[in-house]
Amino acid sequence: MKRSKTGDERLVKLLEKASGFVSGQEAGGTLGITRAALWKRINALRARGFNIEARRGIGYRLVEAPEFSAEGLKSSARGRLGRAMVFLDETGSTNDVAMGLAAEGAPHGTVVVAERQSRGKGRLGRRWVSPPGANIYMSVVLRPALHPRDATLLTLLSSVACAYAIIERTGLEVKIKWPNDIQVSGRKLGGILLETRAEPDVISYAVVGMGINVNMKASDFPASIKEIATSVLKETGRRHRRTPLAAAILNHMSDELKTLEKEGRKPLLKKWRELSSTLGMKVKVTEGEETLTGTAMGIDDEGRLILRLSNRKLRKISSGDLVMVG
Ligand code: BTN
Repeated sequence: MKRSKTGDERLVKLLEKASGFVSGQEAGGTLGITRAALWKRINALRARGFNIEARRGIGYRLVEAPEFSAEGLKSSARGRLGRAMVFLDETGSTNDVAMGLAAEGAPHGTVVVAERQSRGKGRLGRRWVSPPGANIYMSVVLRPALHPRDATLLTLLSSVACAYAIIERTGLEVKIKWPNDIQVSGRKLGGILLETRAEPDVISYAVVGMGINVNMKASDFPASIKEIATSVLKETGRRHRRTPLAAAILNHMSDELKTLEKEGRKPLLKKWRELSSTLGMKVKVTEGEETLTGTAMGIDDEGRLILRLSNRKLRKISSGDLVMVG
């Protein structure tokens, strides 16, 4: 389905695509607006951080786009995800906002992004450290035709999309630690929190929340996670623009959702297994009150971890906390 872009997105796209100046006539004509309305739009974009040069009689040139913006993200997202977008300076948790919007009927693909979260949520009731202006905090409303027992596929799908996007944009060697930790050099660079509302036979809606540490400096990590967490900046030694990275995540998610719909789960599971840092390793998994040690043999078709215990019996684990033990 072709999506219609808003005027601001189309203007940003037009300026981005041009190698130099775009005349007022061309821009106004493409958007179907008068020169005065175009001038108003240009100034509104400038107020939101777009550096746009204007030359009388020649036109407009995009000198620099802000490092992270709704317009940039919407103009680069090519699938259905991001058609509707809420971009906030600050919120408690983008997952809470997205769950609220989904309950009110927000369509599949609605994206909520924040520059900062005051109550960022991690898995298992943990807190997600969410300082301002550095990282990606993004939640996506999905309305997939899936049985609730297959909800885990959405987490696997999102972790594959995040891993592919980070590899593509940064060249880092990204791995996934079961169930959905995005890791580089054995440290956590990102995580995924899935929340769902379901009928007995179908998921009514799901929210996939993704937190990716992008430009967080070593000194920004609280002592409690300093040794176990990392960021793209820490790993590559340089800052990265968040707009193309977040857009790549949405685009990979769109592609994987299409593949899941058309070809079933096999291609997704294959990709997840290829990216996994867990399979074949000796691990300790805590599921609720129980802690099990064994070898991670694989994941089944529902994304459950298959653990071979020391008595050689196999156990399937749906969710939990996993650490490598050697
Ligand atoms: C984990 O514990 O690994 C999951 C972390 C998920 C964090 C993201 S940040 C965007 C979204 N909003 C939240 O409150 N949490 C998720």
